[in-house]
Amino acid sequence: MMKTRLSRLLSIFIVLLLLVSVVACSNDKEPEPTVEPTPTETAEPKETEKPKEEETLAPTEDVDPIVEYEGGLKDVYEDHGLIAGTCLAPAMIGSEKYTSIILENFNTITLENHMKPEAILDHKASIEAGEIIVKFPKDTIDLLDFAKENNLSVRGHTIVWHSQTPDWIFFEDFDTTKGKVDKDTMLDRMEKYIKRTFEILKELDYIDMFYAYDVVNEALLDNGSLRDSHWKSTIGDDYIWYAFYYADKYAPDHIKLYYNDFNEQFKTQAYIKLAKSLVDDDGEFLIDGLGCQGHLYTKDSIDSYISMLKSFAELGLDVQITELDISLGTWQQILKATDDNLKDQGKYYYELISRIIAENEAGNTNVSGITFWGFADQLSWRRDRSPLLFDAKLNPKYSYHGAMLNKDHAGY
Ligand code: XIL
Repeated sequence: MMKTRLSRLLSIFIVLLLLVSVVACSNDKEPEPTVEPTPTETAEPKETEKPKEEETLAPTEDVDPIVEYEGGLKDVYEDHGLIAGTCLAPAMIGSEKYTSIILENFNTITLENHMKPEAILDHKASIEAGEIIVKFPKDTIDLLDFAKENNLSVRGHTIVWHSQTPDWIFFEDFDTTKGKVDKDTMLDRMEKYIKRTFEILKELDYIDMFYAYDVVNEALLDNGSLRDSHWKSTIGDDYIWYAFYYADKYAPDHIKLYYNDFNEQFKTQAYIKLAKSLVDDDGEFLIDGLGCQGHLYTKDSIDSYISMLKSFAELGLDVQITELDISLGTWQQILKATDDNLKDQGKYYYELISRIIAENEAGNTNVSGITFWGFADQLSWRRDRSPLLFDAKLNPKYSYHGAMLNKDHAGY
């Protein structure tokens, strides 16, 4: 009996010993690697990269109250003759927290994705009709209704682009297994697409909200040559001219027609050459404005940006910053969102925008508006680079104060 008890106690002791050693081993485990992932992008921005929307679109439930601030960007900019805009996406209009930031700060919007060719060109209807059909889906209508209800003006974005454009529009019978159409057919499709876009805006009673439209987007490479695209291969190098020719023919006069591109500070001369070629038989401009996307980095030179704006002003066309966001670091080397880096970003926003205002007021530049490519980092297409004005809790960052020209809080 005694022997059995002893052996039972012994086995319990052994089991306990084993357990203790397992726990001890697991505590000794190597720490998780903390090495920063090396950025893999070395090429141009991937505009077509879809962000994983569901992950971060909803504001965090337990958000702190938004820090109080007086007025908003639109009020500050109005005093300097500038309009203030944001891009708009469905996730931004369903939440009270987002809409209050929008309405407080902006008086103009650009649909982030929902007026792009892939959003409004209807494949099935085009096949059935045997001609290109434009149709605004529900999300597009909801966003435009939001703008209308809240008295926000709209920049149209965009008609002719190599990206977010369905391939089928370039093929016989809208069928990508067949050959590409010839120049005349493609011009006919382009004309109908542009004509219908403006007709639908009129039919749906949105046309008066629009004051600008990006007719052609991102046609130039950084070296100044034309980017390859289906538009270029079906129509030829003059596809940009035709796009402006038709837009000029069908858009009402109050809508300014823009060419819009990124890395504008690196391809300034090519922009200018292109704009100068967009004239009618009488030598009158078919284009009204140059859109500078402004997808910048905190290490980019503000001086070169300003000198680009000065060169554009000499052309006499309107100029707008159309998609401003300022990522941390450089394109190749994204920096972490440390307090110091966020302070640098705040200073960058402050300096860039106050320089633009000062140069405008001195008559050296003629920027009429600044549209930010969103406002909350968590909704940004570049959310991994913290490029915008509000943090994950929707509190204003140094960058917001910088953009508000509130130097005391901009990170200095
Ligand atoms: C981006 C959107 O922000 C993303 O949501 C989308 O996945 C890709 O396009 N230049 C442009 C914009 O003209 O339309 C792009 O928007 C950003 C770069």
